[in-house]
Amino acid sequence: MSDEGHVLDVLLTENRRFPPPEGFCDGCVVYDPAVYSAAEADPEAYWAGWAEKLDWFEKWHTVLEWTPPHAKWFLGGKLNVAYNCLDRHLVGPRRNKAALIWEGEPGDTRTFTYWDLHREVSKFANVLKGLGVKKGDRVAIYLPMIPEAAISMLACARIGAPHSVVFGGFSPESLADRINDAEAKVLITADGGYRKGSIVPLKANADEAVKTCDCIEHVVVVARGAGLTQEVAADMAEGRDHWYHDLMAGASAKCDPEVMDSEDLLYILYTSGTTGKPKGVVHTTGGYLTQVYATTKSVFDLREEDVYWCTADVGWVTGHSYIVYGPLANGATVLMYEGAPNYPDWGRFWQLCEKYGVTIFYTAPTAIRAFMRVGEEWPNKSDLSKLRLLGTVGEPINPEAWMWYREVIGKERCPIVDTWWQTETGAIMITPLPAVTETKPGSATKPFPGIAATLLDDDGNETSAGYLAITKPWPSMIRTIYGDDERYRETYWSKWDGIYFPGDGAKRDEDGYLWILGRVDDVLNVAGHRIGTMEVESALVDHPAVVEAAVVGKKHDIKGESIAAFVTLKQGMDGTDDLVAELKEHVTKKIGAIARPDVIMYAAELPKTRSGKIMRRLLKDVAEGKALGDTTTLADPAVVQKLQAQYEEEEG
Ligand code: PRX
Repeated sequence: MSDEGHVLDVLLTENRRFPPPEGFCDGCVVYDPAVYSAAEADPEAYWAGWAEKLDWFEKWHTVLEWTPPHAKWFLGGKLNVAYNCLDRHLVGPRRNKAALIWEGEPGDTRTFTYWDLHREVSKFANVLKGLGVKKGDRVAIYLPMIPEAAISMLACARIGAPHSVVFGGFSPESLADRINDAEAKVLITADGGYRKGSIVPLKANADEAVKTCDCIEHVVVVARGAGLTQEVAADMAEGRDHWYHDLMAGASAKCDPEVMDSEDLLYILYTSGTTGKPKGVVHTTGGYLTQVYATTKSVFDLREEDVYWCTADVGWVTGHSYIVYGPLANGATVLMYEGAPNYPDWGRFWQLCEKYGVTIFYTAPTAIRAFMRVGEEWPNKSDLSKLRLLGTVGEPINPEAWMWYREVIGKERCPIVDTWWQTETGAIMITPLPAVTETKPGSATKPFPGIAATLLDDDGNETSAGYLAITKPWPSMIRTIYGDDERYRETYWSKWDGIYFPGDGAKRDEDGYLWILGRVDDVLNVAGHRIGTMEVESALVDHPAVVEAAVVGKKHDIKGESIAAFVTLKQGMDGTDDLVAELKEHVTKKIGAIARPDVIMYAAELPKTRSGKIMRRLLKDVAEGKALGDTTTLADPAVVQKLQAQYEEEEG
């Protein structure tokens, strides 16, 4: 658990309460607290009410079929996600509304109305068909934050080809693993993407990855990084690689949307678990769209005139649900930004808010803490007066950061929605409703209407401090792990009977508010990115100098957690500083920069139980400079004491 003691302190001392700001409720989407009791009395009717706001080619005959751990929602219903995000907005004034306003890191901009986006998506859908992609075929997407990322996802949805988006920061090897697991036929990438003033060589990475992917028949390349286009042009593999713009030039803009069953696969998204192998989280069509639609509208109080900005990357679930599918299904104007928050300086986000008149802003606590550190002079240089609602996601937010967000960015005028959810839940699960819920700094408050969440102990008894548990199925829930239903059952449904285990610990206060403490399994949350300790350990032991490695999360002021690794070297190997640097680089190369350890320490031995299990809990104490917890189960308590002394000496 990342920060239990700290949260406990907060719980005892945090008395601040913030009711919805005066005037916020006028014209808001949800204002009646009775929505909670109505949804609780009949969740299926509640969700069906939202589903009715989507466009269906054929209506469902049954709302829910629940044979734990498998749920089906809106059975018999037929619809198309791209149709719901685009076509249905083409009648009436939304036709000419900006759907996507995009700004690249160098400052270039593009705007797509709903009409424009519909045309581009239809054309690219035809391009994919022309490359032999049929309903059910998987398409991998490895793109920077450019409009073509959203266009590609929607084009896949239009023809019923599930996409697997891979974050552009992942290494070639991580990309290859994901492509192979999904057996994707086509890969969509770009020559490069801008990040902090330099260009990430995506096509070069893709080439490296595809060498080990026999399933890939075609690679489509968007010309983005001006500096790399010529270089990449020289490397285009004849017959396999195609420029996006060449294919689009000849494509028809007429493409009927595929009629999809409510339970047809919409996408696979890989996320880290407790083993070295990422899990392909499967999301389907009708239930997913219903819940992302409902939550986007209610949690962000989305109204016709809003300019909505979620700063996530489309490579993560937040980008899927709250940049693309939720907002576009609602006919919103979405701002999309390619680059880093601090490029060319720490004022960039706030300039973007001013320039585009952003009204709703959704980001991660790690970004808020980084902004806090550099000081309020940066946001104060821009006019943030259009902002009216702020959101956070991805990790627990500490009350100091929450208060700073409220005062410095929101000028005490904007409600804050701290939203808890996961790749597996598909959509927001625990959150305030901005016009209804009194908020408390650091608490995600209460389950969204229609969501049944509670806290349980190991035996499944209700408790006020324990594991978060979701006791009823919800529309956007994970359906299975792609190709591994056994792992799906084991990971999420084996702890209690028919109850979903998200892997988080939480507490409930006397008002029934939930305070999420963080992961209770071997999953880290580094700057809002989810990383499995085993993935990093496997990358480390892959290095020829390493015999054994143990990875733990270490509390970090900005990133929430950072990665600390303890490694045992092969006999005769010297534990030098150069080798530390080399090992960090090795992890970056194997997984991506997000998994790079901050600290690597050599350990002559790792603390183990008598049965040989590494006690990561104690290593975490060592890494955080805390008093050691219970060492009685260790085979040799001296091992960890020695490590602690060594750590204090080396790391201070
Ligand atoms: O530990 C929780 C944390 O992020 C995990 C999910 O990570 P991922 O699947 O990558 O999705 C992140 C974006 C939805 C959760 O198990 N988490 C997410 N939101 C919050 C959070 N922890 C505390 N408060 C939150 N609001």
